[in-house]
Amino acid sequence: MTTPAAPAAPKGRLGNGQLRRQVAEYLAGHPGPCKVGEIARALAKSAGAVGNALTTLASHGEADLVPGKPIRYEANSATASAAAAITPKAPLPPKPAPAPTPATPAAPAPTPAVTPTPAAAGPVTRPNGQVYQPRSLADMADVEALRKLRDAGVPALLYGPPGTGKTSLVEAAFGDDLITVAGDGDTTAADLTGEYTQNPDGTFTFIYGPLIRAMEEGKVLFIDDATLISPAVLAVAYPAMDGRREITVKAHKGETVKAAGGFYVIAGHNPGVHGAILTEALASRFSVQVKVSTDYDLAHALKIDSRAIKAARDLAGRQASGEIGWAPQLRELLAYAKVAVILGEPAAIANLVGIAPEEDRDAVAEAVGKAFARTTVAPLALGRQL
Ligand SMILES: Nc1ncnc2c1ncn2[C@@H]1O[C@H](COP(=O)(O)OP(=O)(O)OP(=O)(O)O)[C@@H](O)[C@H]1O
Ligand SMILES: [Mg+2]
Repeated sequence: MTTPAAPAAPKGRLGNGQLRRQVAEYLAGHPGPCKVGEIARALAKSAGAVGNALTTLASHGEADLVPGKPIRYEANSATASAAAAITPKAPLPPKPAPAPTPATPAAPAPTPAVTPTPAAAGPVTRPNGQVYQPRSLADMADVEALRKLRDAGVPALLYGPPGTGKTSLVEAAFGDDLITVAGDGDTTAADLTGEYTQNPDGTFTFIYGPLIRAMEEGKVLFIDDATLISPAVLAVAYPAMDGRREITVKAHKGETVKAAGGFYVIAGHNPGVHGAILTEALASRFSVQVKVSTDYDLAHALKIDSRAIKAARDLAGRQASGEIGWAPQLRELLAYAKVAVILGEPAAIANLVGIAPEEDRDAVAEAVGKAFARTTVAPLALGRQL
């Protein structure tokens, strides 16, 4: 049917370290610069996943990024031992096969993605090993909805308070096919496209930034806290996101870079953070905008104490009515559960109050006290000398 896979390539999905080990092995066995696509073909893996493995190896000093274009990597003195040192995890079970579809001719996808995008029904393991429980979005699993948007080339913006699950969702949806930029007020165009860096011999090499890498490798670029980035800087990415799907890298001799199939941009926005400005130009580029708020049912499913969830829910209601400015989100509820295990329930309760912004602390203390049937709850503090 299609191109035959390399004979040595194992079937099924690989654990994180395992693909890295294979890539390191390949580099060690093929001296000289190797292109991402070449390695991906040899291992029968997606260029995105192989690109990520190479980036990790290079960041650990276990492979070298060869200066210039196209993006190539080569083995260094640490590569062979890296191949041997990474303990391979047991391969993950193969993803469930997509539901059979009627034998009608498939409509061509506007933007062919590099990796297949099967429907995900159950929990998804993020690249950091944490388990993500998909939530519903447009009557399907959120991870599936995002993958569909990628296939169709429709940029999405996830917005909501800190700790509600924006990053987790993007990581669960795109796994190793993801490059993340953490935006802030100091982010420059060079942080997106790249810049010249000095070599030990005094010459300069242009090192491509995450936007260019994502474009060339057909990956997903997640611009987290995109609205903290100055609008003029963010505008550098716009030509890559619209119909042209290419950008001119002014800083590198005006070079034109075209996006490979699969390239996609998704952004995160926290409306409450000081300095976050959702400009019209940005909003109009992200045709789909998804509100992300804490799912309290998920908090129950994650076995968090229902009294803590009740307090958080009550506070969220008061926050929605404008009465207070803060309520614990999933991140704080997960932290509650962890602290309860480490330091005990009373300390975890006190900590839930202590992490609240000062102006809302009394309201939080009251809600937490009520939920746990305690008359007073003070923030976690040091006591007398023991
Ligand atoms: N659907 C989910 N299943 C399991 N855990 C989840 C889920 N969503 C979020 N979490 C957990 O909740 C916590 C907060 O999530 P995350 O870091 O993704 O929030 P965020 O919205 O990106 O926050 P911030 O705006 O501060 O970056 C993490 O510990 C994450 O593992
Ligand atoms: Mg985040």
